[in-house]
Amino acid sequence: MVALPNRETGYHFRWERSRADKPLVCRVRAVNGTESSKIDMRGWRSPDAAMAKTDQDILAQLGFPTARLLGSGSEATVYALPKARVLRLMKPGARLADAEARAHLLAKISAGGSHLPFVTPHVQSIERIDERIAVIEPLLPGTPASETLTKQAGEQRRLLICNYLNAAETIADITLTAEYFGPLMGETALRAPSWSLFLRKRLEQGLQSCPADLRAAVSAAMAVELPEPERASLVHLDYFPANVLADQTAITAVLDFGASSIMGDRRMEAWSAVAYLDPELSPTANENDRITARTWLAERDLMTDYPRAKRWLAAYWSFAADDASLMAWCRRVLA
Ligand SMILES: Nc1ncnc2c1ncn2[C@@H]1O[C@H](COP(=O)(O)OP(=O)(O)O)[C@@H](O)[C@H]1O
Ligand SMILES: [Mg+2]
Repeated sequence: MVALPNRETGYHFRWERSRADKPLVCRVRAVNGTESSKIDMRGWRSPDAAMAKTDQDILAQLGFPTARLLGSGSEATVYALPKARVLRLMKPGARLADAEARAHLLAKISAGGSHLPFVTPHVQSIERIDERIAVIEPLLPGTPASETLTKQAGEQRRLLICNYLNAAETIADITLTAEYFGPLMGETALRAPSWSLFLRKRLEQGLQSCPADLRAAVSAAMAVELPEPERASLVHLDYFPANVLADQTAITAVLDFGASSIMGDRRMEAWSAVAYLDPELSPTANENDRITARTWLAERDLMTDYPRAKRWLAAYWSFAADDASLMAWCRRVLA
């Protein structure tokens, strides 16, 4: 956050982004204190970002002008490289310190999960190329489960869904020791001594960034009560078919640990893995898959708290205004 008092124009300009995934906002206040307004700077590009090299420039510079695009999210675009590697090219404006923090977290997760039957990403190198941050990682085995679902039917498909859910359940067995509930990286101020306190603090913060029409629903979700776990475990929180790789019916890798990952209640991973099979987020899943998933929850005696957990998740994601399908899901669940 930067404050720029500007006595020539008679206004203070304050640039704010309360967290990396929130829109940049410019607060403008008259120096004499008479006026105040907030300008949403989404879509604004800093002169640095505007000058940044394009993905094509960087790929050509690295000697891989025809690298295949694997996927693109809000933070990075991922390309396949020779020798079983991938290039994660962070969007212009990304910070080296954040890429390093993510690499550190991934190393801990991959060491703590070495006993699991699937792999998790780890970073081989981080490079700054002009103003862009390029991260090289090993190519992990499998195809996104969201894609595999388009090819499976019958018992094979049911098995894939069950394995997707069983793998979600084991994320909490990745050994990480942390004496708090809350984010593993980034917003450490949200860490709390209890799960319920973190749940409330996170939505309180979400109130600042959610669209105005969702504010009342997010505020109401702050009263959601969920059971307190005995201990804090790793929760991915963005575990859904597009972030999971599969080979036939087996889960081979879990991707995209990072900004969302928290120390929390292991049950939240199960609730979220089921909730995210909804059509807006997992269009390749079908109603039968969703029934399989709810049956799986019921078998674990997790159905009673599921609607409350899902409401909290929808309120949590309400900051992601640039993701139309996610916002459609939030709006429907919170309605
Ligand atoms: N290490 C990897 N090995 C194989 N595929 C990967 C790897 N990392 C990313 N991908 C592919 O790129 C896509 C986007 O990567 P992901 O880590 O989910 O980032 P984001 O969703 O933030 O763009 C994934 O869905 C997957 O298809
Ligand atoms: Mg992803």
